[in-house]
Amino acid sequence: MIDANKDPIPRINRAAFFRDIGYKPHPGQRAVHASKKRYRVVACGSRWGKSVCAAMETLASAFEPRECAMIWVVAPTYDLADRIYRQIELKVLERLPHRLIAKKEAERRILLRNLAGGVSEIRAKSADNPDSLLGEGLDFLVVDEASRLRPRIWNSFLSQRLMDKRGSALLISTPRSKGYFYDLYRRGQPPDPDPDYASWNMPSWSNPMLPMADIEAERRRLPDAAFRQELGAEFIEGAGAVFHGIRDIAVGEFQEPVAGERYVAGLDLAKVQDYTVLIIINSRREVVFYDRFHRLDWGLQTARIVGATSRYQRAQILCDVTGVGDPIYEELCRAGCRVTPYAFTSRSKSALVENLVVMCEQRRLVLPRAELWPEGIEELEDFQYSVTDAGTVRSGAPSGQHDDIVMALGLAAWQVRAERPQYRISTVRRRDPHIEALRQRLWR
Ligand SMILES: Nc1ncnc2c1ncn2[C@@H]1O[C@H](COP(=O)(O)OP(=O)(O)OP(=O)(O)O)[C@@H](O)[C@H]1O
Ligand SMILES: [Mg+2]
Repeated sequence: MIDANKDPIPRINRAAFFRDIGYKPHPGQRAVHASKKRYRVVACGSRWGKSVCAAMETLASAFEPRECAMIWVVAPTYDLADRIYRQIELKVLERLPHRLIAKKEAERRILLRNLAGGVSEIRAKSADNPDSLLGEGLDFLVVDEASRLRPRIWNSFLSQRLMDKRGSALLISTPRSKGYFYDLYRRGQPPDPDPDYASWNMPSWSNPMLPMADIEAERRRLPDAAFRQELGAEFIEGAGAVFHGIRDIAVGEFQEPVAGERYVAGLDLAKVQDYTVLIIINSRREVVFYDRFHRLDWGLQTARIVGATSRYQRAQILCDVTGVGDPIYEELCRAGCRVTPYAFTSRSKSALVENLVVMCEQRRLVLPRAELWPEGIEELEDFQYSVTDAGTVRSGAPSGQHDDIVMALGLAAWQVRAERPQYRISTVRRRDPHIEALRQRLWR
């Protein structure tokens, strides 16, 4: 029997185990594997070897001698979680096939015989579906690209899974701004480290296998702050964030319709996977209504949109008509809605976003408070400028996350923008040279 208070993680000899399976961790990875802390937080640069380290630590943990163990590998998207899962699967098939009990491909689930003869189960999960993160008590949890998860996913879903069995966690990521991941990282750091935490912060070039020429090429390609964040692994406040000061304008609440008031609505229609979002704003530019739904058939969607906009004094709708938007637009016209089409191109989307940036920074919008509208506030705060592989700058939701709230709000706000276009770069308050450089490139 293992005394949970003395040694919550029964350990196998990792050096020997890794040798057996043909994995040679570099010194930075070795330090992470060697730590016995309950929470390990690794903030390292791109290509440092984070995912490899996470996959191998998962495997080591699965072989710890236990009666049974439940282990999750979570990442912001299914693709990312799948990538780690595949590395684990490959090592098992190559080096440990005699330990494999079963593999359930569709569920990304693998059952192994651990060193006590017990059964350890590893499951890959995506954080973009929080419902799938309910339920089980975990012995070990890996979160890859943890800084890209919404804080709510860690605080309300994942950390709870570790309570029943006093499980441990490895959170591993490139730093991104100073959110919850930074707070967890800080807990392992002097002057007053939490005894349950260990944390590391290492740049990409501490991976000795990464050619220095590749790093120098990235340094030349990326804006300075992006390089310092992505490869230097520095926590830089607000680097890449598109919208600033969102919490300052999130002081309102949803409101019932008022007779005689004038309302406008922004409507972003679901494409393949995302949601249909309807946002209504009053003449004081306060967001008064929000609805979001998916997997409804067109007839039901139209009925829901017609119902809401009619209640709000036949709100004037601006509607995205690209892709599947057209038939709904026609349906809304037939139903007597006051609706104007807006075709999305990368340029017209950028115009919506820039207008929204200016309206937020100039405090010309009032949003519902964060506790009333968490998904709206989070989506706005998550919206990022990023540099594409082709070297151009785009703004959008981080991969695996949605942008439909931002787009619907952009469409609504477009109708209450100032008469003279205010979305020119020159009117945007200059605060972060990195953001300014990105904006200049965006509008070049
Ligand atoms: N210990 C190791 N031995 C051999 N190769 C390694 C080791 N660690 C990492 N690598 C290799 O380095 C590259 C980067 O590793 P990995 O994908 O784990 O990095 P990452 O930090 O997760 O990168 P990203 O930021 O792109 O997610 C991969 O090609 C991987 O196979
Ligand atoms: Mg990775």
